[in-house]
Amino acid sequence: MKQFDIPVRLRRLRKNASVRAMFDETSLVPAQLVQPVFLTDGPVPEPIESMPGIERLTIPALVEKCKILASLGVYGIAPFPKTPDDKKSPDGAESYNPENLICRAIRAVKAAVPEMVIFADIALDPYTTHGHDGVLTADGGDVDNDPSVEILCKMAVENARAGADFVAPSDMMDGRIAAIRAALDAEGLTGTGICAYSAKFASAYYGPFRDAVGSKTEAKNKISGLSKKSYQANPANRREAIREALFDEAENADMVMVKPAGIYLDIIRDVRENTLVPVVAYQVSGEYSQLVAAAQAGWLDLEACRDESLLAIRRAGADLILTYFAESFARSRCEK
Ligand code: PBG
Repeated sequence: MKQFDIPVRLRRLRKNASVRAMFDETSLVPAQLVQPVFLTDGPVPEPIESMPGIERLTIPALVEKCKILASLGVYGIAPFPKTPDDKKSPDGAESYNPENLICRAIRAVKAAVPEMVIFADIALDPYTTHGHDGVLTADGGDVDNDPSVEILCKMAVENARAGADFVAPSDMMDGRIAAIRAALDAEGLTGTGICAYSAKFASAYYGPFRDAVGSKTEAKNKISGLSKKSYQANPANRREAIREALFDEAENADMVMVKPAGIYLDIIRDVRENTLVPVVAYQVSGEYSQLVAAAQAGWLDLEACRDESLLAIRRAGADLILTYFAESFARSRCEK
């Protein structure tokens, strides 16, 4: 048998599972994951067609879900409401009603599972008739930045009062992090943190989410020409994403987020290298649904792709990951 002269053999460090485990450069454990959850005001949980395996939960079902998540070592949830149509309005005023679905859900979870860490989404799209993340200018031609920020501040204060640990502005209005920090502090809510959706790109991968919360705007946008591209970041741009993250860090965000995650790994790495705050990444609905759909067709191994996609996001530099796979990942770890 011919022996080649190959003194360096990298395969020595991959020879079996034990050796490989010793030299894992990247960890992935349930505590590094946050489960986004959808809520309904209806009487029973509702399936979401474009997100198999995910349901809109009632508040009692959410509380039960949180007990399970905590027992699996997943301590974070990010709740999103499906607001009934009769509670939507052009200015999204339901967003700061202390009795709205989200505030009631936050109080119920905090009372029953106090160790659960709640990331409350701050944006108007589940509450506006037009589905945009802020209020519109008088002529309807744009999302009006500063009046939107004013409403977001009220919303953040009510979510914090209900017990949210972190408010998470996902609207991409300018200057909202500083304004929300000041509003929280003025109300004595100094312990509530801010998870800034800093580099949130105008992505088509949010499609299934918009089904889940009923915020689809495409048809109306085609008429008015007003697109989320006028406030969400341009997918072509790296420097712009870093600038957004640096502004939010300077405005005292406790952590900054990149979203989507799996197709923006370069941005996660850029933000990691340019900021000192924790970096969060959101593996969004479209990233989830495309893996589930391919697995349902028999074309991909769902668990293996789930784990590989999450590991890649951690390797790129994310400290924490919002993912619809949080529960299923944690379950498979408990089985091992
Ligand atoms: C809106 C919001 C969106 C998501 C989270 N918050 C969608 C959007 O901007 O239209 C998407 C999350 C996902 O796709 O999983 N404030």
